[in-house]
Amino acid sequence: MRFSFLTLFPGLVEGYFSDSILGRAKEEGKIAVDFLNPRDFSLSRHKKVDDYQAGGGAGLLMGPQPLDDALAYFLKKTPHAHVVFPVPAGKPFTQKDAKRLAKKSHVVFVCGRYEGIDERIVEEYADELFSIGDYVLTGGELASMVMCDAISRNVEAVLGNDASLDEESFEAGLLEAPSFTKPNEFKNKCVPSEFLKGNHAKIAGLKKVMACAKTQFYRPDLFVNQKLTCQEKDHR
Ligand code: ADE
Repeated sequence: MRFSFLTLFPGLVEGYFSDSILGRAKEEGKIAVDFLNPRDFSLSRHKKVDDYQAGGGAGLLMGPQPLDDALAYFLKKTPHAHVVFPVPAGKPFTQKDAKRLAKKSHVVFVCGRYEGIDERIVEEYADELFSIGDYVLTGGELASMVMCDAISRNVEAVLGNDASLDEESFEAGLLEAPSFTKPNEFKNKCVPSEFLKGNHAKIAGLKKVMACAKTQFYRPDLFVNQKLTCQEKDHR
């Protein structure tokens, strides 16, 4: 799967793909990452990409020309790319979106800076607008990296063990059950004894109950639709 970032600051994003799981996925060709800088497309003498807001307002906007030329150039070569704009006004990005977008062959993130992007560019090119939370970041790069990370780990074979995707948080609308490793006792706190007995059906049932309790405690908003599932007899 390919990810492209349209950004004035490719250096901010590049480093994220040099190490760890995504670094390895890139090295092994499971994901590809590339960059396009709208400044390189600016027709102004000083490679200007921003301007004052029409009608007034604090701060500068990214003007349409460099982005339009960059996107037109890019999409001519890759017309099937799925174009995502990270913006505070977008719909909330969720695990469901991460899984859905992991099935695309190419996602392009258009990263705004300053006070944002001229709306005509969004109208012309956006397939989807996403927000990663109700706060305003200084640019779209961080939000794009967050989404790219969440999407990548759902791309086949990016995680060493695809089974780990099945049980994780949000899968069935529940947070993942608490997990433990060695030692069995640490600072007077013990791993739940049932986890050490090897009865996998029982452990699975227990984990379901714990996932329900954890969701109810930390994210009651997610829990509202879970009552029935959590009360299923065979999971008690
Ligand atoms: N750009 C600035 N703030 C953002 C947010 N919260 N989500 C996505 N993109 C953004």
